Amino acid sequence: MENSYVLYHDQIIKNGSIPVDVEDRGYLFGDGIYEVVFVYDSKPFAFDEHFDRFVQSAKKLELAIPYDIPTFKHLTEELITKNNVVNGMVYIQMTRGVAPRNHLYERNMQSVVTGFAKSVSLDSIAQSQSKGIQTYLTKDIRWLRCDIKSLNLLGNVMAKREAADFDCQEAIQHRDGVVTEGSSSNVFIVKDGTLKTHPATNLILNGITRQIVLKIAEQLHVPVLEESFTVDELKEADEVFITSTTMEVTPVVKLKGEQEQTYKIGPVTTEFQKHFKKQIEKSTSTLKS
Ligand code: PDD
Repeated sequence: MENSYVLYHDQIIKNGSIPVDVEDRGYLFGDGIYEVVFVYDSKPFAFDEHFDRFVQSAKKLELAIPYDIPTFKHLTEELITKNNVVNGMVYIQMTRGVAPRNHLYERNMQSVVTGFAKSVSLDSIAQSQSKGIQTYLTKDIRWLRCDIKSLNLLGNVMAKREAADFDCQEAIQHRDGVVTEGSSSNVFIVKDGTLKTHPATNLILNGITRQIVLKIAEQLHVPVLEESFTVDELKEADEVFITSTTMEVTPVVKLKGEQEQTYKIGPVTTEFQKHFKKQIEKSTSTLKS
């Protein structure tokens, strides 16, 4: 049955049987990290890249990863298999662990690892990709370490809720007029054939999909500027698209909120969508053989 097995420490067990401690720092402080990996044809996509980022996030927060990475990856694969996920996602979370509530953390605590895997309909993703999505421009109210994939997502979830209230599928956030990223995606604009996206600083999460798109740009000799751009540039862009594990490369057709604009799905976006799909095909066929 769907989503019936979960990861708890180094065990794959029946869902519903995980003991959750009220003093887990993940619950008390959002003190933990996570990764979302997409599964295509039963294979995790960009698996190494996601685990590299997981390790980086752990280092930045002084979190101890309790197993070696090959073991961790193996457990993640087992979670996918046990849940019969062919196309879907796998979520891995690690909190600092359990301790009497105190802002001060001790180093080298026993981390708590949990995870789940579930199927996702590729049709709904395909629909957004062919039709494009509406976005809502809003202030980026988050902290200054958005490079860490931490469980602290209040700013992100508030932005997403606000966007949804205006019938938009994603929020595009800005700091003092400089576009940073989506609530759960990175943002690219195209102007006169050049791609622009916020540099991978502390103000954004350096998305794995973003990095793949940048590699594709290099291969296609599409000029790229990893430079911040303003909301005015966003408004005047020829094309806008967002990238994420769960949305791949999705065109933006509408901007609402502080600035309003309508965009066409352009040839650059379509080209990147096509090449991203090729990367997926390549990875699933390589892993199969
Ligand atoms: N979110 N920026 C933010 C704030 C994100 O949360 C995400 C991904 C991205 C894109 O990163 P990637 O390409 O590695 O998925 C950028 C995931 C999908 C989530 O939280 O569900």
